Amino acid sequence: MTDLKSFYRQQFGSPPARWVRAPGRLELLGNHTDYNQGLVMSVAVDKCLEMAAAPRLDGKIELVSSAFAQREKFSFDRIEKNPANSWADYAKGVLLQLRRSRVNFTGFNAAIRSAIPLGAGLSSSAALEVATVLTVRHLFPFTLSKTGPASPPRRSSSGALPELSKTEKLLLAQLCLKAESEFVGVNCGLLDQISCLFGKAGHVIEIDCQDLTVDHCPMPSGIGVIVCDSGVRHDLADGTYNALRKLCESAARRLGVSALRAIDPRRLEAERSKLSEREYQCAFHVVGENHRVVCAERALREGDLEQLGRLLFESHASSRDCFKNSCPELDLLVELAAAQPGCIGARLTGGGFGGATINLVELSQVERFCHEIAAQFEARTGRKAPVLRCQIVDGAG
Ligand code: GLA
Repeated sequence: MTDLKSFYRQQFGSPPARWVRAPGRLELLGNHTDYNQGLVMSVAVDKCLEMAAAPRLDGKIELVSSAFAQREKFSFDRIEKNPANSWADYAKGVLLQLRRSRVNFTGFNAAIRSAIPLGAGLSSSAALEVATVLTVRHLFPFTLSKTGPASPPRRSSSGALPELSKTEKLLLAQLCLKAESEFVGVNCGLLDQISCLFGKAGHVIEIDCQDLTVDHCPMPSGIGVIVCDSGVRHDLADGTYNALRKLCESAARRLGVSALRAIDPRRLEAERSKLSEREYQCAFHVVGENHRVVCAERALREGDLEQLGRLLFESHASSRDCFKNSCPELDLLVELAAAQPGCIGARLTGGGFGGATINLVELSQVERFCHEIAAQFEARTGRKAPVLRCQIVDGAG
């Protein structure tokens, strides 16, 4: 955090009062299942966003990010979009939702530094949302309950706030999700925000988006988690993501259920004629992903890495052939990964259409894997694919 604090001081001329860290996340399995009330597995990783902040007295909120040239300044009671600084929308959306939830806050300065590659599918946006909500909690302590604000938490003698309960984390995740769908306009599910808040070092996060339950399962030892960035950028706010969601929802409607979670592979085949070809393809992917997550949970608990890896490869094939949210660069990265010694499994991670792949690789082969993938991708495409080694870390705090 030293760099963060000196960045804050350099930007605002005085030291920050509080600072938080919010990790990026990787979707391990369960692609586009979250908004279909399905099952998903993820990990929080050590590519994090950090935010340092201090209150100010004039009611203004001023945000500065090491990743963007322009600062964004606005009044705490006038939160509007500024197309010239759309990166700040994720923070502003959260502030608006906090206000709607009757949380009291006024002006503050915040400086942001992020090691989460933008647009690579590690959800830098959820990290910014979560960092914002935690920063406000640190500066203007509040407690959310299902019925609105409850009595605020007390600071300890050292000024620390009590840890968030599971219920509070879920409420904060839902608030951040609302910010993203209502203010930014991407109708995503809860995967990103939950992963950012519920990460646990060395563990896989298991989310049931129907019951809203979160469990953890240890990641077997000896596995390296590698991200390969295709370099292809696709803005989920351009409508493609929402369009896929609509297809899934219309498939569910035609099948007479409230969400695709209620459909199993056999029923989908039996009622296929009710769906358009495209609805069927989307439903096939989502239903398959839910099934693969169930199988992967078993594989993880039994330490069956071969099966786990097979499920990852199947998931990618389903994205490529059915859901159609892959792209040639992601397909190439997975194809190259599959041919490397020690590669357990690989697939695209997150929304798709670009971004990154997640690769599980035997630790002894990680070095060589990273080198070979980068070299072979460049040889085939003439472009670089940054390769990142990730550690699985705790959630935001
Ligand atoms: C994006 C969304 C998530 C989830 C994934 C796909 O990352 O933000 O909510 O839908 O795509 O699984």
